[in-house]
Amino acid sequence: MLKKKKMIPLAVPHMSGMEEAYIQKAFQENWIAPLGSNVDQFEASLAAYNQVSDAAVVSSGTAAIHLALELLGIRAGDTVFCSTFTFVASINPALYLGAKPVFIDSEEETWCMSPYALQKALEDAKAKNQLPKAIIVVHIYGQSAKMDEIIALADEYGIPVVEDAAEALGSTYQQAPLGTFGDFGIFSFNGNKIITTSGGGALVAKQPEKIKKTRFLASQSKEEAPYYLHHQVGYNYRLSNVLAGIGIAQMEVLDERVAKKQAIFAAYKEGFKDIPSVTMMPELEEAKGNRWLSAMTFCDEAVKKTPNDIMEALKEQGIDSRLLWKPMHKQPLFQDAPFYAHETGDVASKLFQTGLCLPSSTQMTQEEQDYVMDAVKTIISK
Ligand SMILES: Cc1ncc(COP(=O)(O)O)c(C=O)c1O
Repeated sequence: MLKKKKMIPLAVPHMSGMEEAYIQKAFQENWIAPLGSNVDQFEASLAAYNQVSDAAVVSSGTAAIHLALELLGIRAGDTVFCSTFTFVASINPALYLGAKPVFIDSEEETWCMSPYALQKALEDAKAKNQLPKAIIVVHIYGQSAKMDEIIALADEYGIPVVEDAAEALGSTYQQAPLGTFGDFGIFSFNGNKIITTSGGGALVAKQPEKIKKTRFLASQSKEEAPYYLHHQVGYNYRLSNVLAGIGIAQMEVLDERVAKKQAIFAAYKEGFKDIPSVTMMPELEEAKGNRWLSAMTFCDEAVKKTPNDIMEALKEQGIDSRLLWKPMHKQPLFQDAPFYAHETGDVASKLFQTGLCLPSSTQMTQEEQDYVMDAVKTIISK
């Protein structure tokens, strides 16, 4: 049995060791600014990884979503559909633009956007002549949504899709990278993500010319002119050349990190296979998630504890865990926003009431993971 001295964390940055060399390069070139050779290299490496011709790196995933919505021409009063089971950053940028969110439930097979609920919402919106200007589909915990169905519905109604792949770099659907199915795809390099630049994000687009436009908007919409010329609103969203250096080194180990996250998930699945009250997050056959966080649900009738009780009990044993996302339609911030449930009821709320994310750091040892699994089994059996 492992003697615990310090907390087993949920997910912490895991450096490759090469980061400082690239940071040093920025210092040697005295290019301590947004843009620069590290930014170019990081963008090229992201584009190659995602099999697209270009990618723009920006200061955060939230900024990337904001720019995608701006590029889609979203304005005050427009409607935006968004997965309800997500982090608030998926939808905050719609609020920055004065748009009104409508939340779409999850379905049980992926925990991501329910095509059934999306169809209901689109039918209603069409009847009211209020079709949304965008659908933000979130690949939650690195897991692919049912993209064939979602893209088919979006095409039928002529609505652009923004894939929030903030948590899903390195995940695939039908063997293609997540983030490349919609009109725009965004990634996050926040500290807890599968790779990190401490803070940062990226945007990829179906139309490569949109990436040029992204860089323009992210640089205060400064026109090419010998003086400072601006025709439209812009943002200061470019990524620092120093931080991009971290990104280059992190990209070099992305596949290793994905493999380790998947191995951690597989070990949990194996370890809990004889516990009928525990179900690990499901996955579509045609998808391969990066398993950014290993998430599970408990059967609430068999386990007489709330996820919060379990989280607190784990904390007492030096184990960090997290409740699943509290759905957006249950947030005070969005109390007036419409919500469309899946055909079996409010799936996202049920997930929130019965689920937990377990430690998923790529530095976690087998001994530590065994300790976590023993602790979970003991807590839920009491
Ligand atoms: C689903 C989701 N969307 C968007 C974001 C925003 O990314 P960032 O923190 O880089 O702004 C995050 C992560 O923080 C996220 O988990």
